[in-house]
Amino acid sequence: MNVRYDFSGQVALITGAASGMGLTTAKAFAAAGAAVALADLNEEAVQTTTDALKAAGHKALGVVCDVSDEAQVAAMVENTVATFGRLDAAFNNAGIQVPPSDAADETAENFDRVNAVNLRGVWACMKHELRQMRVQGSGAIVNCSSLGGLVGLPSRAAYHASKHGVIGLTRSAALEYAPRGIRINAICPGTIDTPMVADMLTKQADAMKEIMRDQPIGRLGRSDEIADAVLWLCSSGSTFVIGHALAVDGGFTA
Ligand code: NAI
Repeated sequence: MNVRYDFSGQVALITGAASGMGLTTAKAFAAAGAAVALADLNEEAVQTTTDALKAAGHKALGVVCDVSDEAQVAAMVENTVATFGRLDAAFNNAGIQVPPSDAADETAENFDRVNAVNLRGVWACMKHELRQMRVQGSGAIVNCSSLGGLVGLPSRAAYHASKHGVIGLTRSAALEYAPRGIRINAICPGTIDTPMVADMLTKQADAMKEIMRDQPIGRLGRSDEIADAVLWLCSSGSTFVIGHALAVDGGFTA
């Protein structure tokens, strides 16, 4: 983390918190004083991080949740509020990639799978977080889109559709909830050095080379550069920022 934030007394919920940007952001919220709920499919990894945060004196709760299942999402939010009493910040970050495909050859199975997690998952999380935040009359939500929510890339129609959808969800809900004291924004990371990208670098080396060639800053982004932006979007430093899709991409979409 490059900036110091103060989230003491606040509660943050992060999905996809077992790995990559979610993990770094969960640790950043904890370091900034928040009680943190870490949700992920990966039970073992989420529990290990939760235990480590608790051992370091932070308030942390591990929740096993598949964000594509609305009942599990509802239980995740209920569990968070039952444990910590409220919900101030949420980073709806859990997401997956599917293999690149010619648009004419994409399978319905892959299209549905990526949209069930990346788009319907964010929709369900936001819905249940808002039910708590509207009772409080306060809160900040950051939905994870991507550079793929702002531009197209060949062979990635299904993933990019899911990430464009996240921006549509964010903008509409942000207009609805701005008058009720709740801010909703999206973050659009560029190519960030996480296990997801390490996997793509191995399996999709040629496509990744092309992406790297267009990376003006000449390097991958780091998870802490995303965490900085997420914490800012949830902080009192961004109170006039609403319905925005913030590119944090080393200039890729500039
Ligand atoms: P990652 O693969 O390192 O971490 C993703 C986490 O989400 C994993 O812990 C995984 O278990 C969890 N997850 C997957 N499906 C889930 C589900 N159905 N329910 C709950 N948890 C689930 O990935 P990374 O790179 O940290 O990505 C995080 C988010 O950022 C994703 O939404 C991704 O699409 C997005 N993104 C990533 C970029 C990158 O370059 N790494 C660029 C732009 C966006």
